[in-house]
Amino acid sequence: MKTLKKTLALLLAAVLTAAAVTGCSSSSSGTDSSASTAGSESSEFDASTDKYLKDGVFTVGTNAAFPPFEYIGDDGNPDGFDVALIKEVGKKLGVDVEVQDMEFDTLVSVIGTKIDGAIAGMTINDERKEKVNFSDPYFDAIQFVLVPKDSDIKTTDDFTGKKIGTQKGTTGDYLVQDMDGVEDVQYDKGIQAVQDLVAGRLDAVILDKNPVETFAAQYPDDLKALDGADFNFDTESYGIVLPKDDQPLTDAVNKAIKDLKDDGTYQKLIDQYFNN
Ligand code: ARG
Repeated sequence: MKTLKKTLALLLAAVLTAAAVTGCSSSSSGTDSSASTAGSESSEFDASTDKYLKDGVFTVGTNAAFPPFEYIGDDGNPDGFDVALIKEVGKKLGVDVEVQDMEFDTLVSVIGTKIDGAIAGMTINDERKEKVNFSDPYFDAIQFVLVPKDSDIKTTDDFTGKKIGTQKGTTGDYLVQDMDGVEDVQYDKGIQAVQDLVAGRLDAVILDKNPVETFAAQYPDDLKALDGADFNFDTESYGIVLPKDDQPLTDAVNKAIKDLKDDGTYQKLIDQYFNN
């Protein structure tokens, strides 16, 4: 069964590669480049001998309350840019991908046991890097500030004495914890903080840029989004999270990300999940 799946996946990869090669043959001729493209798909990494993927399944955790990166789709399953991206990575690695929805602040601690990896708009930082591997960055981010439409918050000084909602265990949470004289109100999900903001129980919510923009668009009469750059917040980069003791898997995921960027799949997913 597993072998059959694998064979089918390899066949599909071969067909797709052939299609890609045919597709670009009008602009670039030369058999050398097509030969190397065809060979690059499956070379170094062999999932069937990998410590975590040898069962043929890449089990990946997320926290599906972070649109447009991850959310629960109409069919009740996790969907979003990250979910689509990790499924494409799985295709490159020749394995099935199973995405599991869980609490954000538990993800890092169960990498390598409950899950083989995680994709959750997770910012690469040194503290997390002590426990897990990160792939190369696949998306740039920054914290944004969501406030009621009539709020006069404009700079970090304006946060003093205010109540700010965050998602527990996120970089936004740590940012607010480090502010003097500010109350950090932690929530399991960002949307719960947003609902409390709309209900007037908070002065602001600090979350990542794209989710803030998504939530602001859901409450156009009540909320506005403020750029974290105006508050001197640092830029962040998202990485796919992988077990610390599996460098070959990290390398293979990095190669898959690069290949997905090179073959246009990455841009296709950006267009699908961000530009509408
Ligand atoms: N980028 C932030 C962090 O790494 C927030 C990520 C939250 N992700 C999620 N799927 N809820 O801490």
